[in-house]
Amino acid sequence: MKSPSKTVITAALPYANGPMHIGFLLEAIQADIYARVLRSLRKEVLYICASDMHGTPIEINARKAGLEPEKFVEKYWKEHQQDAASFLISFDNFYKTHSKENKELSEYFFTGLKKKKYIYIKNMDVIYCPSCQRSLPDRYIRGACPLCGTADQYGDICEGCGSVLKGTDLLNPKCSICGTTPQIKSSPHYFFKLSAFAGKLKKWINSKRADLQPEVRNWLKGWLDKGLEDWCISRDAPYFGFEIPDSKKECGEVKYFYVWLDAPIGYLSSTQNYCGKQNQKQKNCAWEDYWKGGKAQHFIGKDISYFHFLFWPAMLMAMGIPLPKLTVHGFITVNGQKMSKSRGTFFTAKEFHKLYGAEALRFYYASHLQRKVVDVDLNFDEFAAVVNNVLVGKLGNFCYRSLTFAEKNYPLLPAAAENKALTKKVLSLSEKIKKNYLAQDYHAAMKNILVVADLGNAYFQKAEPWKSKDDEKTKKAVSWCINLARNLAILINPVLPEFSAKVFSVLGEKNLVFSDINFRWKGKVHKVPLLVNKVEIVRKESFPLQLTVGKILEVKDHSNADSLYLLSVDLGKLGKRQVVAGLKKHFSKDLLQGRKAIFVANMKPAKLRGEMSEAMILAADDGAHVSILEVQKLDPGEEVHFEGTENVHAEITFDEFLKVNMTVQAGKVFYAGKKLISSLEEVRVHTVNDGAKVR
Ligand code: 2FM
Ligand code: ZN
Repeated sequence: MKSPSKTVITAALPYANGPMHIGFLLEAIQADIYARVLRSLRKEVLYICASDMHGTPIEINARKAGLEPEKFVEKYWKEHQQDAASFLISFDNFYKTHSKENKELSEYFFTGLKKKKYIYIKNMDVIYCPSCQRSLPDRYIRGACPLCGTADQYGDICEGCGSVLKGTDLLNPKCSICGTTPQIKSSPHYFFKLSAFAGKLKKWINSKRADLQPEVRNWLKGWLDKGLEDWCISRDAPYFGFEIPDSKKECGEVKYFYVWLDAPIGYLSSTQNYCGKQNQKQKNCAWEDYWKGGKAQHFIGKDISYFHFLFWPAMLMAMGIPLPKLTVHGFITVNGQKMSKSRGTFFTAKEFHKLYGAEALRFYYASHLQRKVVDVDLNFDEFAAVVNNVLVGKLGNFCYRSLTFAEKNYPLLPAAAENKALTKKVLSLSEKIKKNYLAQDYHAAMKNILVVADLGNAYFQKAEPWKSKDDEKTKKAVSWCINLARNLAILINPVLPEFSAKVFSVLGEKNLVFSDINFRWKGKVHKVPLLVNKVEIVRKESFPLQLTVGKILEVKDHSNADSLYLLSVDLGKLGKRQVVAGLKKHFSKDLLQGRKAIFVANMKPAKLRGEMSEAMILAADDGAHVSILEVQKLDPGEEVHFEGTENVHAEITFDEFLKVNMTVQAGKVFYAGKKLISSLEEVRVHTVNDGAKVR
């Protein structure tokens, strides 16, 4: 082991299972600020992350997307790196859990634990779907809660009463993939003896070294008092993961490591991969250099506490690796609500970046983050106020105003005015701010930085340099302001690296760190670029129709009307519905059957010539031709949207529907100038002329 002073910082590994969202960014930014603070203190730090690539949901979603899991995860691995970079997340390495390094290290852990007799095989009941021919994780079973009776709950938690469940607990269980009633099968599995670590864990949680957040210590105390059950670390095929060595021999069939076994090991293997890339430059670098010095720091969300405070520390203890420090943050809510696609409160990183850029979010998050397990609300009114009035109006304003003033009037500045008392105040606030950062109290750091910016604004205002002639005193006062802007840029650098880099370059400098804070700068002020932008909130508009993909399963004649068909439509999670459609004049049955089209799923059910119609199929009509709104890649039940709008799900009547004005331009559908889109494709119509109405 070499230098024990190397610090490794991690953000929890995001699943390579969909686009990155602003919830992950809360953590990535929290950890990034800390990494940048340590770098500014000239500490050797490595900020590590990776894609979490294994498990059932990824395997199933890859198959749904028509891709091999390897290809599917690779796509998100690339995308996530771009998204993180666009938010200025300074990962030193962003690797993957489906990798050679992670396989080797997972096997190293497994065999190490086995040798120490912390792993044993035991028969266990698993839930098996005979039709899908797979074991089902609890998340893939739906049924009624045995405690409160709420129907249609996932097998891991009841949303009715909040109880933590097991899939085997559910009443009237069904496979959530195919709806079949699953069976219970007994099969041998590997277990990790978590119970053997209860004593050591209890000691650890109360130690000063662990430095747990009080609320976390309380949860842990509760869990430990309840008693720890051993942990099943294997899964059955089909599974996307690593095969367990010798499992065929020992269990009679191949078993895989459960994703949560190899995911945290991914922290180490990403470090190992980083070292591999350094080896030419730096001989014999290995993950141990970073992890055995006892200076690792994880950032995680509260939902994965159990894994990071019990399973993972126990594994590390067993392997003789020092335990990391952990910081737990709360969830992100948007306008006070859980992030959810149907509520319009879900934002991908890309979407958000396009609307507001990186530094607005970084500053907003920093202003709210403390080392506390509280939820952070992204309230858009507050977001606009914080960015426009505080970031732009105070910090940005002082730096921009003094720099542009100097550039125009005194581009060559002498040493700053002494301003003893004020200078002393700023330097002591700077020390405070460093301490705030180190305590991960970014909220306090931002507050104190604004106190410094206010001092600057007040000083500039009082000095009134615009009134003075070209005298030495004024120049020195302006130089003091420029020195203050420089110091502010150094202080805010961990949060706003682009803003700071711009200020540094105006002063002909770069990469300044905390120890460069002083009032000794003098020299040339170069051209000043725009430092920060105001934001204008773009509200998602609500759209009254629940536009949903449906697959036409069957087409029959309406027994009571010549122009009408009766469609039987699969609307995915909304179930099967009967739809009366006036399409008989335009389409043969064969032409409709099997196609996927857009339906209005929130129409009030109505009887049409004696038959129930429980949704409506949309069609474009230019007076001569009619086309349905067809999609290829989307699955039944998925929704499509007009750009920047969210579908409302409340039931609507036919009269209300008629007021919604949708038209066709160049083969695409528009509403108030907004195009109809989905995550995978644009919705197209065929053979109708521009201006066709969609009904
Ligand atoms: O909950 C999650 O999103 C997991 N992918 C986090 C894994 S963190 C670490 F253990 F790898
Ligand atoms: Zn099934």
